Formats: sequence, C-alpha cells, structure tokens
Amino acid sequence: MKIIIINGPNLNLLGKREPEIYGNKTFDDFYQELKLKYNTFDLDYYQSNIEGELIDKLQEVGFSYDGIILNAAAYTHTSVGIADAVKAITTPVIEVHISNTFAREEFRHHSFLSPNVKGIIIGFGMKSYELALQSFI
Ligand code: DQA
Repeated sequence: MKIIIINGPNLNLLGKREPEIYGNKTFDDFYQELKLKYNTFDLDYYQSNIEGELIDKLQEVGFSYDGIILNAAAYTHTSVGIADAVKAITTPVIEVHISNTFAREEFRHHSFLSPNVKGIIIGFGMKSYELALQSFI
C-alpha cells in the first residue's frame, strides 16, 4: 500500500519549534521509526513551506497513491487552494494535527480541509500520524 505523509509550513522545524507544543523529536527521526515499525507500507514523505508546492504534490500523488496523511499546518486555516486540491483528487486524505487545535487560539478552530477529507486525527502529538497510518490497515 502506497501512502505519503505531506507536511506543510514550519513542520521542518519540529524538534526546535515550540517544543512545549510540538515535542522534542525531529520529524526525520520520527519518520525513520515509523518506516521501520510499519515496513509493510510503501511510505513516502514530503514537506514544503510553499502553498503551491503542496498543491502540486497533492495533484502528483492524488490519483495513484492509496492514501495521503496531510498536516497542512497553518494553511489548514487559510487555504482554499489546498482544500480544492484535496477535493479534486481521488486518493483518500486523512487530516492530522500534532496539537489539539481546538484547545488553542480561535483562528485554529476552523479548517478549510476538513469537509473534504476522509477523517481527522488531532491532538495526539506525533502519534497522530501513526494513528492515521493505522487507519489504512
Ligand atoms: C498544526 C496546527 C496548526 O494550527 C499550526 O499552524 C501548525 C501545526 C499541528 O500539527 O498541530 O503549524 O497543524
């Protein structure tokens, strides 16, 4: 099963960025562990800080992969373009967030993506990605 994790802006700073919210682990370390633990999946990873690049990647994988685990980070709350891309593709998308966005500022309570995704996993730290992966089993 071919699955990709797509991370949006500032998630390349995981491990350094606001560790009290996002933890101390880099995404690369977490991703290597995940790949080993779930080695029956054909797992890919992509990160970009640029909205259009995230849309390009969704279009590229969105008609052939079996699943997309998407943390669009801040673009979750702002991007009609990414929401339209999620709607346009046929591969199911799981929206994930590391932090519990509903326990944070009000502007994080709304997601443009949520109406177009298959499911949402929020607030379990890095484990949110693992739970999303398990949903494909
Ligand atoms: C986030 C939550 C967003 O509100 C924030 O902009 C992020 C990360 C999360 O995973 O908790 O960058 O998507």
